Amino acid sequence: MSTHKWSLQRLRSVNDAQINGLADVLIDCVEGGASVSFMHPLTSARAIAFWRRVARAVELGERALLVAEDAQGVCGTVQLVLDLPENQPHRADVSKMLVHRRARRQGLATELMRAAEVTALECGKTLLVLDTVTGGDAERVYERLGWHRVGVIPGYALFPKGGFCSTTVFYRLLN
Ligand SMILES: CC(C)(COP(=O)(O)OP(=O)(O)OC[C@H]1O[C@@H](n2cnc3c(N)ncnc32)[C@H](O)[C@@H]1OP(=O)(O)O)[C@@H](O)C(=O)NCCC(=O)NCCS
Repeated sequence: MSTHKWSLQRLRSVNDAQINGLADVLIDCVEGGASVSFMHPLTSARAIAFWRRVARAVELGERALLVAEDAQGVCGTVQLVLDLPENQPHRADVSKMLVHRRARRQGLATELMRAAEVTALECGKTLLVLDTVTGGDAERVYERLGWHRVGVIPGYALFPKGGFCSTTVFYRLLN
């Protein structure tokens, strides 16, 4: 039994409260300087529009969405992108691993990744790929979980307040 303050589940549909909670987590991560597709300041409208697109993909089975909730609402999330080209039916991309600053350094990302791997296997996926900011906190989480580092792409994206950041590509075989 989990001793943590959160509960973790895979959502098959996403209600408005969950969309708002996911938007809050995304905004918190961008405010904290994470390079996760968005520039600072991230408005609620842009964050909610992003999660509404994700919710549609979840309902179509194109993405698997895992969400952790604590007493204040959504506190962490990660996705599997399942709708890849027909010659990659065994593969998924891991996307948008986000933990609210209030819930960090308690093992939530680690638990989300383990759950994502179980979900991937349930979906028939045996190869996972992701990229993450080089030198960021997430890199160490993936390395501890046994992901293989492929290499670094320099200047891949921008930090939310500007300046280039590099990305490190990882993969993991599940069988
Ligand atoms: C990267 C991120 C997802 C990590 O989330 P997290 O829930 O804090 O991750 P974990 O708790 O599993 O691990 C983080 C650290 O806490 C430590 N930790 C875990 N449980 C702990 C506990 N109970 N007590 C103290 N430390 C603990 C881990 O050992 C790890 O240490 P490290 O910094 O030496 O590597 C989070 O910082 C985040 O959302 N960042 C912004 C978004 C982002 O960059 N996402 C990645 C996109 S690919």
